[in-house]
Amino acid sequence: MDTLLVRDERPIDIPLISELTRLAFQNHPFSQHTEQFIISELRDAGALSVSLVAELDGKVAGHIAFSPLAISDGTSGWYGLGPVSVQPERQRMGIGSRLVEAGLSRVKDIGGRGCALVGDPAYYGRFGFMNRPGLVHAGIPQEVFLALSLEPPSDAGFPTGTVGFHAAFLARPPAWGGLFAAMASCPRDLERG
Ligand SMILES: CC(C)(COP(=O)(O)OP(=O)(O)OC[C@H]1O[C@@H](n2cnc3c(N)ncnc32)[C@H](O)[C@@H]1OP(=O)(O)O)[C@@H](O)C(=O)NCCC(=O)NCCS
Repeated sequence: MDTLLVRDERPIDIPLISELTRLAFQNHPFSQHTEQFIISELRDAGALSVSLVAELDGKVAGHIAFSPLAISDGTSGWYGLGPVSVQPERQRMGIGSRLVEAGLSRVKDIGGRGCALVGDPAYYGRFGFMNRPGLVHAGIPQEVFLALSLEPPSDAGFPTGTVGFHAAFLARPPAWGGLFAAMASCPRDLERG
């Protein structure tokens, strides 16, 4: 692979992150296609705790987000991993793995004690994520709700209870998006009144 750099997001990356996230999830079977709005709302809420981009030959090709979790047993310092996206034509080149590894390391650096996510065990298992029967998320099938402790030994102090992601995960497309779409399709004579 050519030169891959994983770094913090910069303001200039924001529209690129949005677009690459939209494209990456475009054909995802379980996506509600709101991932780019989730990232924006997390950012606006000051809850985008870690936001890294993968730059391939100077161009943004991937992104990963982490945000704080609430756990019903009161455990603090846990973060939700996601969304994570790699440009469709750059997938399966190791970029996603580099983002996950760099992101987990950064979460540790900021004092993170663990991470949880909703995802495929076949993919996230390679980073140590596992389903933990005592840690649940309402409405999410248990087998795809995965967690990783960042504290050694990994079983010590593993939280139990119900996990809540930040409210930004309920994000929907901005209402004015629909308004602009309606204006764009408006016949010219109607626009003139
Ligand atoms: C998931 C994603 C971030 C992985 O990034 P990537 O750069 O393609 O992944 P990597 O190259 O590091 O790893 C590729 C490996 O992961 C596997 N893989 C990739 N996406 C997978 C998925 N969704 N489920 C299971 N395995 C997956 C590939 O089969 C490949 O396996 P191999 O190493 O045995 O060949 C990327 O495919 C993507 O953006 N997908 C669309 C958005 C998405 O699904 N995000 C995650 C939601 S939970």
